[in-house]
Amino acid sequence: MNTSFRRTKTKILVDGGDPQETVRVKNLVGQVDGQTTNPTLISKNPEVRSEISLGHKFTSREELDEYKKIVQTIAPLVGDAGVSIEVFSDFDTTAEEMFAQGKEMFSWVPNAYVKYPCTHEGLRAAEMSVDQGMRVNITLCFSQQQAAAVYAATKRSKQPVYVSPFLGRLDDRGENGMDLVANIKKMYAAGDGHVLVLAASIRRLDHLLGAFALQAELATAPAKVWEEWAGASFPLPGKDFVYQGQDKSGNRLRPIPYQSLDLSRPWDTFDIRHELTTKGIQQFVADYKSTVKQSA
Ligand code: E4P
Repeated sequence: MNTSFRRTKTKILVDGGDPQETVRVKNLVGQVDGQTTNPTLISKNPEVRSEISLGHKFTSREELDEYKKIVQTIAPLVGDAGVSIEVFSDFDTTAEEMFAQGKEMFSWVPNAYVKYPCTHEGLRAAEMSVDQGMRVNITLCFSQQQAAAVYAATKRSKQPVYVSPFLGRLDDRGENGMDLVANIKKMYAAGDGHVLVLAASIRRLDHLLGAFALQAELATAPAKVWEEWAGASFPLPGKDFVYQGQDKSGNRLRPIPYQSLDLSRPWDTFDIRHELTTKGIQQFVADYKSTVKQSA
């Protein structure tokens, strides 16, 4: 078993919907702390793909059963960072509807985290969930204001809450996503520690090293990035490590400035709108629908 990765405090999560990938990463790295899934990743699961290629589409109940089966296969492979399971939500889904799904998903495995989108209804659902003792992961986070709202909405939680800043998608539009992770860490340092930063949308080794350097509590990355890390003999950032945010053409990314925000404000006073959250939901809905019968 390889244990060199234990020199990083950041927990290791596989971002995917295929248990075989989790097994592969576990064999390479020695231990996987957790897993994140989402509708796009589930639509890419090999069994789901093979059904679709045979012309079969799922009813919404069959799709949920398939998701449950995948999660139940993954859950025993990972550690205490758990399996994040995402509710279906479009722009009409109410907090009550998300919460009902979340409650069911939370019962699937003993180490479940229910993933809600960082929207008004998603945060209302998260607030209801933590009041019922459920663990939550707030996804599609692209701004410090959103992260402040996550903190305030979940402050009654008795268990750690995850917030998932999507750094790669900010990079894609020329903004330095790693700055968002740094800004959230800095802002939360003044808080009570109930929200952990899960660096997400990690596409490259330097994203991983940047997340380690910032001591993000958790990092989720696709199997290919963990394989790249293992292939490079598990590098870790040294004291002199400087993250160089660059886009695909090697151009410097625009910095994201820190904002001073009061975490004791009511959560719905923060401006949680973000274009990338909206786009992310649209994409998840489209990917979910690609697997489900139209009439379902
Ligand atoms: C994690 O929870 C997210 O689903 C994931 O990291 C998104 O990554 P992407 O932006 O590469 O799709």
